[in-house]
Amino acid sequence: MFQLLTRRDFVRMAGLTAGVAATSQLLLACMATTTDVLSTAAPTDVQPTSPPTKAADQQRALQVVFPKGFLWGVATSAYQIEGAANVDGRGESVWDRFSHTPGRVLNGDTGDVADDHYHRFEQDFDLMQQLGVQTYRFSIAWPRIVPTGAGAVNQQGIDFYKRLVEAMLKRDIQPMATLFHWDLPQALQDLGGWESRDTAQRFAEYADTVYRALGDQVKLWLTLNEPKTVVDVGYILGIHAPGVQDRTRAYTALHHMLLGHGLAVQAFRAANISDGKIGAAMNVSPVYPIDDTPAAQAAAVIQDGLENRLYLDPMIHGYYPADMLEHIGDLGLKAAIQPGDLATINQPLDILGINYYNPIYVAPGPQIAQAPHEYSAASWQPMYAQGMYDMLTRIKRDYGDLPLYITENGAPFDDELNADHQVDDQRRVRFLYDHFAAAQRAISDGVNLQGYYVWSFMDNFEWAEGYNQRWGIIYVDYATLERVPKQSALWYSEVIKNNGLGDPPAKR
Ligand code: FCB
Repeated sequence: MFQLLTRRDFVRMAGLTAGVAATSQLLLACMATTTDVLSTAAPTDVQPTSPPTKAADQQRALQVVFPKGFLWGVATSAYQIEGAANVDGRGESVWDRFSHTPGRVLNGDTGDVADDHYHRFEQDFDLMQQLGVQTYRFSIAWPRIVPTGAGAVNQQGIDFYKRLVEAMLKRDIQPMATLFHWDLPQALQDLGGWESRDTAQRFAEYADTVYRALGDQVKLWLTLNEPKTVVDVGYILGIHAPGVQDRTRAYTALHHMLLGHGLAVQAFRAANISDGKIGAAMNVSPVYPIDDTPAAQAAAVIQDGLENRLYLDPMIHGYYPADMLEHIGDLGLKAAIQPGDLATINQPLDILGINYYNPIYVAPGPQIAQAPHEYSAASWQPMYAQGMYDMLTRIKRDYGDLPLYITENGAPFDDELNADHQVDDQRRVRFLYDHFAAAQRAISDGVNLQGYYVWSFMDNFEWAEGYNQRWGIIYVDYATLERVPKQSALWYSEVIKNNGLGDPPAKR
């Protein structure tokens, strides 16, 4: 039943915003065997076919230039690409359990095989290198490292990530590791998951193991990815793992995730990683009232609390916003807070990751309203690049001058392989152009933005959407697992090479 409703339908029903949509679109491609041979596009596919002429150079005069040293990257997460679900001692995660539960994921898709990146990472990094990608944000699967969530460490899991990081470094691709991108060990979920305070402690122990194994080589770290999505979509709407629909449980989990973040940052300091930097990846959205009535404006303030302040204030300022404590009332949050917790959560951060996808428009309620913008193929994503600028400048104003990274930004479209075996995704090129330009305007206006990770490197398992939504700049043919760079990948490669943007692409 979930698949028949859009994320916005859910949002309206729930009266709040959510993370990732379920839609009624049909599956575009299906999964196949793991035995197919990868046919990665030849390097020539990502290079200009003829040497640029002077006229072509002039035509390509940069309109938008980024600071020297700006890092251009791509992002993924473990469950969405790795596959190899039962390989080398990996334990079960909540997403294995959830995706194998009938009715939870569109078309019954699972991450069992996904992009089979576990076995194909060398070729994937070749492709990244050919595109000129400078940094790669990936996540570590907790159940590969600590299969039962506590206690015994699985050396094979550690070895896999060591090989992965070495393969990146060999190609001059700087790793950025996320410790928790939603794939909690199921064994911990069975003990209460994030509703249990102990899980925060288990998270810090697991993080410590990973720092000590990879800290020599990985210098950029993120604790949590999007705690808001776990709260809203996993625990209130119930369309993500663990599939709960209960606000009290949601806000209990919220507090313990933030506590886990604080403890994991403390463990990072204790591990003393030389040159290591740590933060979290937070999905933020600017919230605009649908009109200038006082009721809509008041609704926007509450919604802004639920979208942004409820997460950033405790992490960065050390308090929950008073209006949010009142709004949430007795639903879990206050009861979960113990003396000293906010000081633990409020650790000094070296960097902050911003996942930016969409603005939110609200009517009184608060109710999410239709946005006055074009939407991507995700029913929850109105496309509005100025919203990124608004958030970046606001974060600097309200949360200080932390070095920021866009740790995710991108959009899904109905990409298809054409007769020439190419994917002409000009709408994605336009989307990225507009957002890169907005990021550069923020930099010009003083925001300390140091890098940008496009979501995603390749099409992958998009949670409740399964393989239906294609977010990659690389197309994945799920029948063969072949990777085909889309036009956006070729265009991005030029952006990286120039550290800037030429003329805006024509609007399509
Ligand atoms: C974000 C998630 C990421 C992906 C994108 C589309 O919310 O962090 O894993 O699903 O949305």
